[in-house]
Amino acid sequence: MVKEMRFEWNPWSLRKQNHLFVKFAVSILLMGLAFRFFYSHSMGVSPVTETPFIGTTVAEEAPAPAEISVQVPENRDQIIPQKEKCDIFVGDWIPDPSGPIYTNESCHVVEGHQNCMKNGRPDSGYLYWRWNPRDCELPRFNSERFLELMRNKSWAFIGDSISRNHVQSLLCILSKVEAAVEVYHDEEYRSKRWHFPSYNFTLSVIWSPFLLDAAIFEDINGFSSTDIQLHLDELDRTWTDQYQSFDYVVISGGKWFLKTAIYYENNTILGCHYCPGRNLTEFGFDNAYRKAVKLVLNFIITSNHSSVVLFRTTTPDHFENGEWFSGGTCKKTVPFKEGEISLKDIDEIMRNIELEEFQNAVTSGSEKRVNLKLLDTTRLSLLRPDGHPGPYRQFHPFSENKNAKVQNDCLHWCLPGPIDSWNDLVMEMVING
Ligand SMILES: *[C@@H]1O[C@H](CO)[C@@H](O)[C@H](O)[C@H]1NC(C)=O
Ligand SMILES: *[C@@H]1O[C@H](CO)[C@@H](O)[C@H](O)[C@H]1NC(C)=O
Ligand SMILES: *[C@@H]1O[C@H](CO)[C@@H](O)[C@H](O)[C@H]1NC(C)=O
Ligand SMILES: *[C@@H]1O[C@H](CO)[C@@H](O)[C@H](O)[C@H]1NC(C)=O
Ligand SMILES: *[C@@H]1O[C@H](CO)[C@@H](O)[C@H](O)[C@H]1NC(C)=O
Ligand SMILES: *[C@@H]1O[C@H](CO)[C@@H](O)[C@H](O)[C@H]1NC(C)=O
Repeated sequence: MVKEMRFEWNPWSLRKQNHLFVKFAVSILLMGLAFRFFYSHSMGVSPVTETPFIGTTVAEEAPAPAEISVQVPENRDQIIPQKEKCDIFVGDWIPDPSGPIYTNESCHVVEGHQNCMKNGRPDSGYLYWRWNPRDCELPRFNSERFLELMRNKSWAFIGDSISRNHVQSLLCILSKVEAAVEVYHDEEYRSKRWHFPSYNFTLSVIWSPFLLDAAIFEDINGFSSTDIQLHLDELDRTWTDQYQSFDYVVISGGKWFLKTAIYYENNTILGCHYCPGRNLTEFGFDNAYRKAVKLVLNFIITSNHSSVVLFRTTTPDHFENGEWFSGGTCKKTVPFKEGEISLKDIDEIMRNIELEEFQNAVTSGSEKRVNLKLLDTTRLSLLRPDGHPGPYRQFHPFSENKNAKVQNDCLHWCLPGPIDSWNDLVMEMVING
């Protein structure tokens, strides 16, 4: 626990922020505006933390690099083979007076940084909305039914800290029926496994932020000694070695690909992403991400193991007036309506890669035993700027000084919060769908 806290807090220290600021400013001066697209020079932070922030310093008005050109699939119906006519990912958020099914009092696994209630977030309106698909009803998650159907079954959530956020939501929802028993955690509390004794149901979260074989060099304080080494042709065995043991898998990649990294293929350097001073070719995070998604989906569709796999699309952030390190905030307290906001460039690029590679995998893997589905949470999540901890990632951040400058989190989700609906969608896809 102590260890976990240390990991969780350090990267956000004031010293670090100043440090980053200075680096950022210097890099701007040196590199000129052309390089503003990303900044992530060797500022690795402990992966246990909300590190997807790192390197996501996208200047929204900055032009996209020329090498990025991704075709947007026009018709999503073509690429998502769903039997039902209703697209559960298109709709709007409607008021829901019934509110969340758990609270900070009833669920004890919520991570401190996402426990907005406990941390003193003053408004609670964000709790009273539900996702309403345009053409059908989305039932609320039914924990009893879920657990009954998952007797003797095993689930895994594989990815970064958003996957952890997601699994905690599921644990909280299920805790109304039975509290999970933690049966495993790795040394750094990043991967965990729980067991629901009455149902012999096993739930795992596996820390694999790149899904690929990656060497991340960070000391105990979360400072990187050197850049990440990412093998674009090797999957991370942390998850592939266990893959056969899961009946259901929710897997996703994302924002870690925005970090500075040296890319390898055949153990030879292929290039890098944002590594000024290295005399290496910029390979493009999008090219790296595409290779990763391709490799992951190919592994899944060629595996002889029969399972249900939900591939989750990237999650949008809602930083305004700055980025995570430069005073960005998210002060909205109600959802957007469809059309009121569009995806940031980075999220659009990532999601398009995901949609295209998912389509390719489904096409080529259609006769295989795997049941591969797209959990397309990007756009519905985009409509929830009100669902992030903001300054309430810390315990009562303004108790001593109401004008205190506090690090905001506009990427992860409060629990309870909008991410609970991701589980309504999961339930619909695997049980009712
Ligand atoms: C839960 O949140 C409320 C405020 O919404 C707070 O008063 C209470 O102390 C919190 N309980 C726990 C156990 O954190
Ligand atoms: C779960 O496993 C136990 C022991 O192998 C077996 O007796 C039981 O019938 C199984 N239940 C289901 C629903 O598969
Ligand atoms: C629990 O489920 C596993 C399969 O996931 C099965 O092998 C085992 O026998 C089950 N145990 C009990 C006590 O039902
Ligand atoms: C790696 O090896 C494969 C086949 O062995 C080859 O097709 C590919 O071009 C190689 N990549 C690099 C970067 O050398
Ligand atoms: C950069 O790399 C190229 C080819 O790998 C080499 O010819 C050149 O001398 C290098 N430049 C520096 C400054 O190291
Ligand atoms: C899957 O099974 C087939 C035949 O049973 C075998 O030839 C193939 O190597 C297996 N593939 C993997 C990835 O294990």
